[in-house]
Amino acid sequence: MRILVTGAAGFIGSTTAELLLAKGHEVVALDNLVTGRADNVPTGATFVEGDCGDEVLVQSLGGFDACVHFAARIEPAESMKFPEVFFANNVGSSLRLLNALVTSGVERFVFSSSCAVYGDQSVMPIDEERPTQPHSPYGQSKRMIEEALSWMARCGRMRSASLRYFNAAGGTLAHPERHQPEIHLIPIALDVALGRRDHLDIYGDDYPTPDGTCIRDYIHVSDLAEAHALAITALETHSELTINLGTGVGSSNRQVVETVRRVTGQDLDVRFGERRPGDPAAAIASNEMARDVLGWKLGHSDLEVIVADAWVAHQSN
Ligand SMILES: NC(=O)c1ccc[n+]([C@@H]2O[C@H](COP(=O)([O-])OP(=O)(O)OC[C@H]3O[C@@H](n4cnc5c(N)ncnc54)[C@H](O)[C@@H]3O)[C@@H](O)[C@H]2O)c1
Repeated sequence: MRILVTGAAGFIGSTTAELLLAKGHEVVALDNLVTGRADNVPTGATFVEGDCGDEVLVQSLGGFDACVHFAARIEPAESMKFPEVFFANNVGSSLRLLNALVTSGVERFVFSSSCAVYGDQSVMPIDEERPTQPHSPYGQSKRMIEEALSWMARCGRMRSASLRYFNAAGGTLAHPERHQPEIHLIPIALDVALGRRDHLDIYGDDYPTPDGTCIRDYIHVSDLAEAHALAITALETHSELTINLGTGVGSSNRQVVETVRRVTGQDLDVRFGERRPGDPAAAIASNEMARDVLGWKLGHSDLEVIVADAWVAHQSN
């Protein structure tokens, strides 16, 4: 297949583009490098530097069998400061991309959604039937595109899978996790282990969780990538899918820190501060639908494996 991958210079997009190439697909990688790095784009993909909302550019790239759309601004806290930037990019550019793709006759669209659409839920694990209640412009921007996709599927214009990732983590040698700026716990903890930062901040140790710190569901980026390939295939028979991607297992911030200490053999200076507004106490996915509908199997998402892989990738970068 000929597949357009937007955001392919980012963490998850580059890993997925590499997997699609390995499966024999032709990949066109579109990224404006606002936060990505050109050297993340895998060898073998055709790299086009540009905005996914540039309709003329997208149409000039020719026909595609599918588009996998990762391109987005991703930091919820930043979206609370600059909501207009997030709506313009994550909603505006995505809608223009969809318009260009429909005009070019593209029929399958896989969308990077997020557990941020669920907001703060009290019952774990979270399944796809749970009402959405985003707590940030970031989460709302994802939900708005899901809703547009749902209408486009119902109107017969585009078949789509909205994949709601929980916490992407891990990494490969070729595609380590390196966001700009880095906001995620594991790469920051690994920076401390490597002496690139002097300490690790944990926001809140008074949550209603067994050890008082937030609980998240960490999913290895290689398992995430596999789910995208499965979703493209599933769209042969499904016109609209909304699917959680997580492990069903939660790890607290303290458990992650202990795992990083064990894997790296380094002690970490950890400082506990105030809670951050908008951080839910826990977010754990039900992945029953991913297993049943996509036939998804987890191969790398044990926390120990995630941290070990991230450590290898991190040290080489
Ligand atoms: N990392 C996570 O834990 C996580 C969790 C849930 C959802 N997601 C979603 O997954 C997707 C990928 O996340 P990531 O962690 O790889 O982030 P990333 O920042 O590494 O990658 C995003 C890429 O999109 C590019 N981009 C942004 N806006 C663009 C535009 N208008 N046109 C072209 N390129 C543009 C950036 O340059 C970057 O390379 C995002 O949509 C994000 O919201 C990520």
